[in-house]
Amino acid sequence: MLRTTTRLTNCTPTLVLRTKTTSQAVPNISNNGLPTSQQIFDREDKYGAHNYHPLPVALCKGKGVYVWDMEGRKYYDFLSAYSAVNQGHCHPKILDALKDQCEILTLTSRAFYSDVLGEYEEYITRLFGYDKVLPMNTGVEGGETACKLARKWGYKKKGIANNQAKIVFAAGNFWGRTMSAISSSTDPTSYEGFGPYMPGFLTVPYNDLSALEEAVKDPTVCAFMVEPIQGEAGVVVPHDGYLTGIREICSKYNVLFIADEVQTGLGRTGKRLACDHENVRPDILVLGKALSGGVLPVSAVLADDEIMLCIKPGEHGSTYGGNPLGCRVAMAALEVLEEERLAENAEELGIYFRSELQKLPSDKVKLVRGKGLLNAIVISSEYDAWDVCVRLKENGLLAKPTHGDIIRLAPPLTITKFQLEEACDIIAKTISEMS
Ligand SMILES: Cc1ncc(COP(=O)(O)O)c(C=O)c1O
Repeated sequence: MLRTTTRLTNCTPTLVLRTKTTSQAVPNISNNGLPTSQQIFDREDKYGAHNYHPLPVALCKGKGVYVWDMEGRKYYDFLSAYSAVNQGHCHPKILDALKDQCEILTLTSRAFYSDVLGEYEEYITRLFGYDKVLPMNTGVEGGETACKLARKWGYKKKGIANNQAKIVFAAGNFWGRTMSAISSSTDPTSYEGFGPYMPGFLTVPYNDLSALEEAVKDPTVCAFMVEPIQGEAGVVVPHDGYLTGIREICSKYNVLFIADEVQTGLGRTGKRLACDHENVRPDILVLGKALSGGVLPVSAVLADDEIMLCIKPGEHGSTYGGNPLGCRVAMAALEVLEEERLAENAEELGIYFRSELQKLPSDKVKLVRGKGLLNAIVISSEYDAWDVCVRLKENGLLAKPTHGDIIRLAPPLTITKFQLEEACDIIAKTISEMS
């Protein structure tokens, strides 16, 4: 049965609109003293760079699997901030860690030791089974760090001639927006108009072990960096055995296997890591997003000493990387994943979710794919995924289209069976309304 969206008024009225000339608050009586959603859209449009095209919904509150807009409408969040909010919005344990630590010490920089960093390093390396961690902030910095580590290792350990190291990526990859990340991209929207690009980056087709093997025979290749499931490409799931094949090929040719688990890691696909589905251990593991449960930018690169100790003091770092606040938050975020068995929940509910999505009419939904609670539907060409997302929003569920015809469906991993059933009703109703 469909639940009706409820109107809540607990958005705190702290937002005021100011005009450019007077800096005076503009009186706003149209929405209980709050700006309306339309005013929020207009202000962002006027003062913010146009580097995003958001769905027309202005959010002011989140709790668990729900978010609320300026008019108090409640929605299921089926994007989870691109899988950063695996633990649900504003998880109390993570917020407590944030609140407690922020009154004690937030940032020391790495010029000094802090009492929290080592505790976090011990915790995360034990949890994932690596010798060392290198803490950073955003996911893309994690990817940059992995590439730098791989190049250094290539020169110091593999014996590649100076400045000759190559890194292989999978076509369709997405690992962020820096110059390096776009240099490996095969998506013109990401790279066009931003050249020249980083040298020494190659791509091979995703999910193609023969192409990978051919590429890494080149002795100047130091690493292959890959997402175990390609998230931004539209939740592209490789064939069973792909990860095992990568591991074998990389070991055979002495090439580092870098797993970008920024989106797939931390329970999202039904295991702690997506690589765990094939019991494969990458040489370098990149984590981000849900490592802080959506509270702060926290990313991490894990590797063994043979690789990690190739980088010496002064050769890499970040002012905020490994800050005490981020470390406390990350430990709490990881504990929540373990204590609440969120990977197990994702595994179990993912199976149910895909079985429900498979029931959608095949003339409208061409394909359902995913693992755990990282799923996507591919919409038939007569329909537009953006329009479907707008209708989903009107029916109380937020999701974001990608590549014109794909809708990613990735709720927080705290979702219950009952909530998922309601969400499935909304999706089925929305699809049935499409004409
Ligand atoms: C697989 C993957 N790697 C890296 C990133 C970059 O993360 P961030 O946006 O935190 O830099 C993303 C972001 O979507 C991602 O999906």
